[in-house]
Parts: sequence; C-alpha cells; structure tokens
Amino acid sequence: MPAPAIPVPPGSRWLVAGGTGFVGRRLVEALGAASVTVLTRDTGKAGFGPPVRVVTDLEALAADERFDVVVHLAGEPIASGLWTETRRRRILESRPSVAERIVACVERLEPKPRVWINASAVGWYGVRGDEPLDEGSEPRDCFGHRVCAAAESAAVPVESQGVRVVQMRIGLVLAREGGLLRQLLLPFRLGLGGRFGDGAHWMSWIERDDLVRLIAHAAVEESLRGPVNATAPNPVTNTEFVRAFGRALRRPVFQRVPRAPLVWALGDLARELLFGGQRVLPARALDSGFEFRYPELDEALRYALTSPVAMS
Ligand SMILES: NC(=O)c1ccc[n+]([C@@H]2O[C@H](COP(=O)([O-])OP(=O)(O)OC[C@H]3O[C@@H](n4cnc5c(N)ncnc54)[C@H](OP(=O)(O)O)[C@@H]3O)[C@@H](O)[C@H]2O)c1
Repeated sequence: MPAPAIPVPPGSRWLVAGGTGFVGRRLVEALGAASVTVLTRDTGKAGFGPPVRVVTDLEALAADERFDVVVHLAGEPIASGLWTETRRRRILESRPSVAERIVACVERLEPKPRVWINASAVGWYGVRGDEPLDEGSEPRDCFGHRVCAAAESAAVPVESQGVRVVQMRIGLVLAREGGLLRQLLLPFRLGLGGRFGDGAHWMSWIERDDLVRLIAHAAVEESLRGPVNATAPNPVTNTEFVRAFGRALRRPVFQRVPRAPLVWALGDLARELLFGGQRVLPARALDSGFEFRYPELDEALRYALTSPVAMS
C-alpha cells in the first residue's frame, strides 16, 4: 500500500538520517512533495532514485545548503540480537555518533534548520507497571532508558543555535514489513501465538503511518519541543495485544511464552523488551491538536496487516 501523502510546507527541505529504515523509508515515501536528502552509511544499499538525494558524508555539503527539517532515525536496532557487551556498546553509541555528525553539520549551515525531530523511545521511562505515563513522568533506570537518554542528549547542542528539538519517544511501531509485527507473524500464523509470561505488562504502540503523520505535524507545530510521546492514545496489556493480533489474523492464541527460561537465556533483553513495558500516553501530541487515524488497536492492526509489500 503506498504511503499516504502528508501535508508538508511546499518547497520544504528535509534531511533524514536513517531514511533507509523501517520508519524512515515510509517517511521518505510519504514526503513525496518535499525535497529529501537521506543520510546513510551505504548509498548502494539505500536504493533510492531521484528526486531523493542520498549522501554518506555531511561534511561534503555546502555551508549554504538549506534544510528546514532534520529527522534523525538512525541507530543500531535494539531488538534484533543478543545484548552482548559489544552490541550494547553499538546500540548505545550509534545514535549519538550519527547525531554528533549532524550537530557538526548544523553548526556550519546557514541558514539553520528550523526543527530537529529526534527518535527516542518509550523505553526512556524504563520498565513500569500500570501507572499511566506522560511526558512529565520521571524515568526509571535500565539499559533501554540509558540508550534513549543518550540519544536525546546528543541532539540538545543545536538548541543553542535556535533549532527547535523534538524528542519523539516512539512506541512499538506497527506495520507488517518490520518491527514487532514481522517478528510475530510467523509464530501466530502457525497457531503458536500467545501471551508473554502473565501478559500483564503494557505495550504502547503506534501505527506506522500515524507516526509518519506525527513527524510531519511536529515539523510544523511550533508549540512542540522537548519530549513528545509517539504512541496511540490506547496502550494495551500484552494479553490484550496478542488477543487482538490473533483476531486480526483469525488464529487461536492459546500459548504462553514462559518468562523464566527466556530471562535466564536473554537477561535484560527479555526483562525489558519481552516481559516489561510501560503504559505511555501521547499527552503533548493530543494537546497540540494531532488526530490519530488509528487510535484503537483492532483498526490499527487491520490497516497494518493490509500492506502487501515485503521489505528486506
Ligand atoms: N521500529 C520501532 O518499533 C521503534 C520503536 C521505538 C523507537 N524506535 C526508534 O526509531 C528509530 C527508527 O526506527 P526503525 O525501526 O526505522 O529503525 P531501523 O530500521 O532499525 O534502522 C534505521 C536505520 O538506522 C541505520 N543504522 C542501523 N544500524 C546503525 C548503526 N550501527 N550506526 C548507524 N546507523 C545505523 C540504518 O541506516 P543505513 O544502513 O542507511 O545507514 C537503518 O536503516 C530508531 O532509533 C529506533 O530505535 C523504533
């Protein structure tokens, strides 16, 4: 399904780091009308053609290059492998290291971008119970929190240059081509779907095209700065999530993924991502007038599962 066009100011110019990823590729597609430069590590693999420009080196950009909006979505995936010491370091350092290159670029550029939308995650709040969390809530320490805190801090230096920084604390992004849904599809299709542990932990999610629209909204909505939770207004428990996913696929959900052996084998990765969560509400997005097209999980899953495209 093609990405729905999003309303962006005509002629606006965007720099998208991580534009080759699960979220970024959809954003670039939806930006159609805008002029987009994608920052990647590998132009060959990026696979974009004109009018999208693809760069690996920001230092090569002229100082009078104009970008209105910077979006930083790049970073080592958090959930795609064991949290060994080496991977933890790569996860922790990759987002700030890309951000540092963008900060150095923004220092040179004149005029400056108006806004930098920086990907963080709901993991910023740490592993939590039933309490609803909004952007005013305090965090709790864990590896996920440290990754998000490092990612957020790395963009802050550009604020002193007049750039508005929006820290998007993104929930589980729903689309079939990647993220959580891609990992769940096969076991659920085989009838092996089930809740994780007691299924009581919360899952804060957002349908991917709603996230793309929220990024576009944050780009023009001057009242948004600092943390903005990018989650639908109706987070659910893991039990509710797996039931809804089973309903969407018309598959039974009888299994239960046991906690103890996975925590034993995977440690913090299992504690934080599989059996831990947080109940996050998008207070600032709603206050600023953003309307979610998919506020309810059943409809979001129905839409997310209709896309026929498979992404590598
Ligand atoms: N997907 C979700 O459910 C979700 C939830 C919460 C938060 N987020 C956050 O939102 C952002 C975008 O998510 P996503 O799912 O679109 O990410 P993604 O597809 O996993 O990765 C985005 C891009 O990051 C670049 N990248 C990968 N490893 C890197 C490394 N070691 N160093 C530098 N760049 C690297 C890659 O671009 P190149 O190969 O072109 O360089 C990749 O296409 C990420 O920061 C992610 O943590 C995502």
